[in-house]
Amino acid sequence: MFYNYNMCGIVGYIGKKSALPIVLEGLKRLEYRGYDSAGVALWDQGSGKILWEKTTGRVAALETRLSEKSWESHTAIGHTRWATHGKPSDKNSHPHADCAENIFLVHNGIVENYAELKEALTREGHVFRSETDTEVLVHLVERELTMGNGKVVLEDALPEALRHVIGTFGLALISKNDPGKIVVARRGSPIILGLGEKEYLIASDASAIVEHTKNVVYLHDNEMAVLTPEDLKIYNFSKKILNKSIDKIDWDLESAQKGGYKHFMQKEIFEGPEALRNVLRGRILSDIGKVKLGGLKDLEKKLKNIKRIIITACGTSYYSGLIGKYYFEEFAKIPASVEHASEFRYGNPAIGEGDAVILISQSGETADTLQALREAKKRGALTLGIVNTVGSTIARESDAGVYNHAGPEIGVASTKAFISQVGALSLIALYFAGNRGTLPETLVNKILPELKLMPGKMEQILKKDKEIKKLAKKYLKYKNFIYFGRKYQFPVAMEGALKLKEISYKHAEGYAAGEMKHGPIALIDENFPVFALVPKDAVYEKTISNIEEIRARGGKIIAVATEGDEKIKKLADDVVFIPETLEALSPLLSVIPLQLFAYHTADLLGLDVDKPRNLAKSVTVE
Ligand code: M6R
Repeated sequence: MFYNYNMCGIVGYIGKKSALPIVLEGLKRLEYRGYDSAGVALWDQGSGKILWEKTTGRVAALETRLSEKSWESHTAIGHTRWATHGKPSDKNSHPHADCAENIFLVHNGIVENYAELKEALTREGHVFRSETDTEVLVHLVERELTMGNGKVVLEDALPEALRHVIGTFGLALISKNDPGKIVVARRGSPIILGLGEKEYLIASDASAIVEHTKNVVYLHDNEMAVLTPEDLKIYNFSKKILNKSIDKIDWDLESAQKGGYKHFMQKEIFEGPEALRNVLRGRILSDIGKVKLGGLKDLEKKLKNIKRIIITACGTSYYSGLIGKYYFEEFAKIPASVEHASEFRYGNPAIGEGDAVILISQSGETADTLQALREAKKRGALTLGIVNTVGSTIARESDAGVYNHAGPEIGVASTKAFISQVGALSLIALYFAGNRGTLPETLVNKILPELKLMPGKMEQILKKDKEIKKLAKKYLKYKNFIYFGRKYQFPVAMEGALKLKEISYKHAEGYAAGEMKHGPIALIDENFPVFALVPKDAVYEKTISNIEEIRARGGKIIAVATEGDEKIKKLADDVVFIPETLEALSPLLSVIPLQLFAYHTADLLGLDVDKPRNLAKSVTVE
């Protein structure tokens, strides 16, 4: 069974056992999702108070702090954080508390309108302690409970508070004034309720609770639950009681962490659409045809004066950068170039004021990219990061930037990060275009709605997983592959080849289709399959000619083409069809069959997909 994508981790316990060890153990099981910081809030039996502790770092660091205390509790909630809003720090860790420190809340998800809510709550006198989006939630609940409009229990106040929230949440809270219960709610971020013998558990992910119970209830969107040691009640947000069925988890711990997928890489490929939704979330103002990027808003004037863009990154992030170059030149009419970070810093780059250097990095810790950033800063360029890991070194040292919000990526082969990087680059380029008025309104009005449709189109391709696995089987015996494409498909070809080589150890090269005749075509014979990326775009006919050249030399063609393309069926040995879209957005679709092909090839060969030989997830040496 596959279930929802989710960052951070939530665990809670209410019952007769000691809650803290259960919650801490559960949090450790969720650390594979991220471990920027951790925290707990619990009802202490001795003092009859809610006590809380939180710290930057792993659950072990929290445990060390707690070891100095003699807290005893049967009700606790806990959180392990993967930062999205606000760097990893003690004060940004969960739980968050209201002004009076009565209510304590842990949250997964993103509150898109947190800035507006924070402003309004601050005006009303609420005092914020953190930079997170989450903290507004607890103040909203506080407001409902203290407004004197009759809301005295959490389950009445919570749905009222959540009416103001745009975004996603899976959350749990406890309150000093409403003892003996945990209240949870969900919209977009998973919450699972575990049913034991006179005890209940909550978790954002089954892996945190499988060792305690196999009987679970999955909360759906816009549902909440009230848990006491004796009872579990589930409601919708109108307080109507819901009768939900109990499911049985039949996975072990490891497969629970992978959400039922065999490998993290496979899971992360399937999380691509959600990664794209997350990078776009709250950033497209459809009504005015504009892009809003909080990370760049203070630089508006400076960005207007940028004369040139240099993108630098490594590996997959470099390939997304190549797509970004087209975006900046097409949308914003700014000259752009892309360089390997490992080359950039030694090339004595002629850059300075008036140049913006964009650093792309999933981890935010890649040594080559970090050194390139420092070099660019030294020379006076404006540095902008596109980084997935909040608070990482590249994120901290860049002048400004945009976070991908793709969630932790664990498989060494980068998949969903690529998708979200392309999404972020399209937004930044459209933002520049908006600032400069370089893109006709008609085109903006085409791109923005289409961007929003892309996750759905990606999901259609993911449904072809079995078909692509069959292809992987058919071509398993071949040792060498070429991937080619033109314009937007050229970087995708290189990314597809990188995916195949890094996890299946097959030789694969990505080429600009037009370059084949300048040398590589000499390699082609019946033992050399070619992936031809040929969606219906401005260079379609040209790529078709390149396919003809391969066929004439006996090469085998696996095409990735647009649905309804009859011509390609006659030319290629095999075709994976992708939905129609705008040329500029086509990489978001054409890369998926290549990710799946690489994944299945490596898996069919019995290789260690998530940890390929000789590689590390984050390369922190030069
Ligand atoms: O964390 P970064 O995005 O900076 O990492 C860059 C590369 O090391 C990374 O993309 C690498 O090439 C992956 N293994 C590709 O799948």
